[in-house]
Amino acid sequence: TTNGLARTPPMGWNSWNKFGCKVDEAVIRRTADAIAANGMKEAGYAYIVIDDCWHGSRDADGFITEDRQRFPGGLKALGDYIHGKGLKFGIYSDAGTKTCGGRPGSQGHEYQDALRYARWGVDYLKYDWCSSGVRNAEDAYATMADALRATGRPILFSLCEWGNSKPWLWAAKIGNMWRTTGDITDKWEGKHGHSWGVASIVDLNEPLWPFAGPGHWNDPDMLEVGNGGLSDAEYRAHFSLWAMMAAPLIAGNDVAAMSDATRAILLNRAVIAVDQDPLGAQGHRVWRSGAQEVWVKPMADGGRTLLLWNRGDAPARIAADWPSLGLPATVRLRGRDLWAHTDLGRLSGRYAAEVAPHGVVMVRLAP
Ligand code: GLA
Repeated sequence: TTNGLARTPPMGWNSWNKFGCKVDEAVIRRTADAIAANGMKEAGYAYIVIDDCWHGSRDADGFITEDRQRFPGGLKALGDYIHGKGLKFGIYSDAGTKTCGGRPGSQGHEYQDALRYARWGVDYLKYDWCSSGVRNAEDAYATMADALRATGRPILFSLCEWGNSKPWLWAAKIGNMWRTTGDITDKWEGKHGHSWGVASIVDLNEPLWPFAGPGHWNDPDMLEVGNGGLSDAEYRAHFSLWAMMAAPLIAGNDVAAMSDATRAILLNRAVIAVDQDPLGAQGHRVWRSGAQEVWVKPMADGGRTLLLWNRGDAPARIAADWPSLGLPATVRLRGRDLWAHTDLGRLSGRYAAEVAPHGVVMVRLAP
């Protein structure tokens, strides 16, 4: 887009994965307090996004109002509170007549809604695709992008039409990120109703790597890290794969009450730096055999980040050689294991490691 935002993948928190429609003012304040105090803000988590179900109804002039039962102080005051913590404020709407939670959508009210969001101090809009009928997706999203632009306020635009009409082919000029899949769920793999487990989401998002770059990112959906359905090893794999794919890192757990293990994952600064690398290249799979995979992400310093992923149920030794990573076989690079937090010294030619079931070994290779 021309809004200049999201030069690196957006980072923040969103209410949906943990709280669903049971979101309210207290949850948002508590979350903003936690993120401002627990190191997440310093690590880059900037946007606090209220997902579905904040909406009340439309007033006599057609302007949207907030649900005053859930948000008694109103969204302007809540946005001020978030900004007062040094964080940014995001909300959610829908390109159709109703949101997925049955609240009023923005169809036919795009300019009014964008104006109201700007008056509330909104910095980020996630825009969903329920009840959109026969609308053309590109037209629908372009209309809201224009409405946001017309407010004069820089508002990050997050498209959520689940990859239905291949937004990676047309949305780079319209928004800053686009969902590539249906909803994530807190499971390791497979399709569960309308949702997908983490490993299955990865398989859907991975081939789209050529379409991501600064300002416009593939969005494999928000993080489930800390929501309890996966083991810590699986959550480390989830977070590592999102970083390798230069995905938006939008936490989706209760950050005010998380375990030390969850905190150590979400606050791994070296893994976050891989996601946020200024080159903005989306990493991808370069080798696969059965349940074993090798991934590479080119980095701005000319180095690589290497990911060894064991999708299987037994420990596996996985090896990667330099040419498969796009490196001359003889080049020597400094290695660092980003989860063990250990230096591996100067490496040349190949790297191999034992990888735990459903686990990863993630190695930064620097010149
Ligand atoms: C859709 C989106 C989700 C979430 C819900 C809210 O399913 O894909 O991310 O926003 O709607 O109802």
